Amino acid sequence: MAASKKPRLRVRDVALCRLLSVVFVTLCGVLLLIFLLASNSTSNDGTHDLENVDAYHHDLRFGKSNNLPQQNELSLRLEKLNGLPPRNLDLYPTLGKDHIVIVLYVHNRPQYLKVVVKSLSRVVGISETLLVVSHDGYFEEMNKIIGGIRFCQVKQIYAPYSPHLFSDSFPGVSADDCKDKDDAGEKHCKGNPDQYGNHRSPKIVSLKHHWWWMMNMIWDGLRETRDHSGHILFIEEDHFIFPNAYRNLQILTSLKPKKCPDCYAANLAPSDVNSKGEGWASLIAERMGNVGYSFNRTIWRKIHNKAREFCFFDDYNWDITMWATVYPSFGSPVYTLRGPRTSAVHFGRCGLHQGQGEKKACIDNGMVNINVEEEDTVSNIASDWQVHIYKNQPGYKAGFKGWGGWGDDRDRHLCLSFANMYLSTGTASPLCGKLHV
Ligand SMILES: *[C@@H]1O[C@H](CO)[C@@H](O)[C@H](O)[C@H]1NC(C)=O
Repeated sequence: MAASKKPRLRVRDVALCRLLSVVFVTLCGVLLLIFLLASNSTSNDGTHDLENVDAYHHDLRFGKSNNLPQQNELSLRLEKLNGLPPRNLDLYPTLGKDHIVIVLYVHNRPQYLKVVVKSLSRVVGISETLLVVSHDGYFEEMNKIIGGIRFCQVKQIYAPYSPHLFSDSFPGVSADDCKDKDDAGEKHCKGNPDQYGNHRSPKIVSLKHHWWWMMNMIWDGLRETRDHSGHILFIEEDHFIFPNAYRNLQILTSLKPKKCPDCYAANLAPSDVNSKGEGWASLIAERMGNVGYSFNRTIWRKIHNKAREFCFFDDYNWDITMWATVYPSFGSPVYTLRGPRTSAVHFGRCGLHQGQGEKKACIDNGMVNINVEEEDTVSNIASDWQVHIYKNQPGYKAGFKGWGGWGDDRDRHLCLSFANMYLSTGTASPLCGKLHV
């Protein structure tokens, strides 16, 4: 009896199996359909197309494989906004040939931002290019100022892992985080102190995180800029830009290969932020400054290759990190080319650095005491000038240990994850990169 039962059971098994697989396949189909409809409907707020949503889901997938922190609702919502097309496409449907993209990175100083935006509105040639505004945190007043821009294409992006977006978890503060000079073993709290014994402060680390996220996003992630072949100019929310800045920069970048092949970048302002330039009839090559710097993809690749150095250096300042670790690791002095008269001014900080005896431009009741003279309204760089090179300038150099504030392993690894968001080292990366397009 047992022998005759067996085949019957097998037949039943096979039938059951077939039925199950039909049910399974159908179920998968239905689920896929539901998923597609769902992602379609969440994107139908008028501006998102399916391509955006695909890119968005692709980024999410990347995020998971990179151990990026768990996102909250705000973080996810802002990341989705990053997929929106630029504003003002109706007014400026095309970009100038060989345009230089301008990236403005901001936090939350609306009274400063208004001044910067006003200065940009007077820049000759600005309508030929794309302005990308990268936000650290979400602030209505900042949005309103950017939303009012009509003088060029504008693309807003938000750093989705900004500490400012997380109120009770990393990259913000968590309840069990160590504070100040806590002893982690004694207090049973989380965190690694920096070289001076201090634990992380989310407000302090946010700027370096933002800068690094933004660089990776702009060069390798953002659809509007990841294929850009020329220079990209970077400015901050307290940089006043002169009307001749864009035309001067176009001249500098075109002269650079011949006049200063060793220059990594072109700058709008001297590296000494208190200087307005020498006023000579010559170009200047000097150490990289942090006001109005621009460089191309070749230089970005060199910087990106030093992600580890950047992310593990115990200094919360992105610029000092670059000067003390990344640039020295290139093996030759990192010069930038600029004109003899500045086209950008760092303002702000009234009262913060009192007693320096400097007559620095600063802001008071929304008014800035920056003098734009006739000379600053038209390009003032001649292509037949020689280059004056400043050698051995003072400043941060290799060997400097850093000001601290960047000792927590979580910050260091978040930083590394940003470097891997769009370029993973696995064999699948080139394909994924293409799929992303
Ligand atoms: C970018 O700039 C560097 C340094 O000036 C130069 O050597 C390189 O050829 C440039 N790359 C491109 C793609 O233009």
